[in-house]
Amino acid sequence: MIELRPATVDDAIAVAAIHNQGIAGRGATFDTEPRSASDAAARIRDGGSHPLLVAVDGPAVVGWAGLSPYRARACYAGIAEVSVYVDAAARGRGVGKRLLQGVVDAAAAAGFWKVVSRVFPSNHASRAACRAAGFREVGTYEKHARLDGQWLDVVIVERLIADNLGDAPRDAATHAARATQPHTPPHTAADAATA
Ligand SMILES: CC(C)(COP(=O)(O)OP(=O)(O)OC[C@H]1O[C@@H](n2cnc3c(N)ncnc32)[C@H](O)[C@@H]1OP(=O)(O)O)[C@@H](O)C(=O)NCCC(=O)NCCS
Repeated sequence: MIELRPATVDDAIAVAAIHNQGIAGRGATFDTEPRSASDAAARIRDGGSHPLLVAVDGPAVVGWAGLSPYRARACYAGIAEVSVYVDAAARGRGVGKRLLQGVVDAAAAAGFWKVVSRVFPSNHASRAACRAAGFREVGTYEKHARLDGQWLDVVIVERLIADNLGDAPRDAATHAARATQPHTPPHTAADAATA
């Protein structure tokens, strides 16, 4: 049975391996460099600020979804980028949809008011999983970047978290965290690993 839980650093090898399948497949992201387990561990350690969930089937990690910073500007502190990757052997069984819904719930609990991503137009599984988790397609960036020399469009998706639009709790929380942790910058938007 598939279950979701917050990632721990012990999951880093599996998280990186699943990420690297997606990178190697060339259908998910402009990134071409494989990620190391230490990259994944750093991201998992930042989970208090930007949660990362794993889907497990018994002891095996079969997928992950995580948040990462959208922009460094304070006005965007309540927006996160979302990434989702499922082991090739576990795709098409609803894991991606559950992970996306789970990470939206985690974003809501963490005070974010919006999560965003970018998806290749040809990535029908990702677009369908996003739709199922309540994302809307905002539009298309044309020829946004090159992958293996070829210019590709990306579809922008967003999921508003209406419950967090009230008093913008993320502003105060994020400013306080930054003020107390000046030497531990979060991973950057470049780590987001959306398209
Ligand atoms: C995209 C991805 C996360 C989706 O996860 P998944 O577990 O395979 O997807 P699910 O089984 O939850 O299915 C989600 C939806 O996609 C549809 N779908 C699944 N595989 C599909 C495929 N190959 N082609 C078209 N639609 C597909 C499902 O029918 C479902 O749609 P529905 O809600 O209308 O029924 C997964 O395929 C993956 O890891 N791909 C490589 C990495 C990647 O592309 N990440 C996203 C980067 S933006």
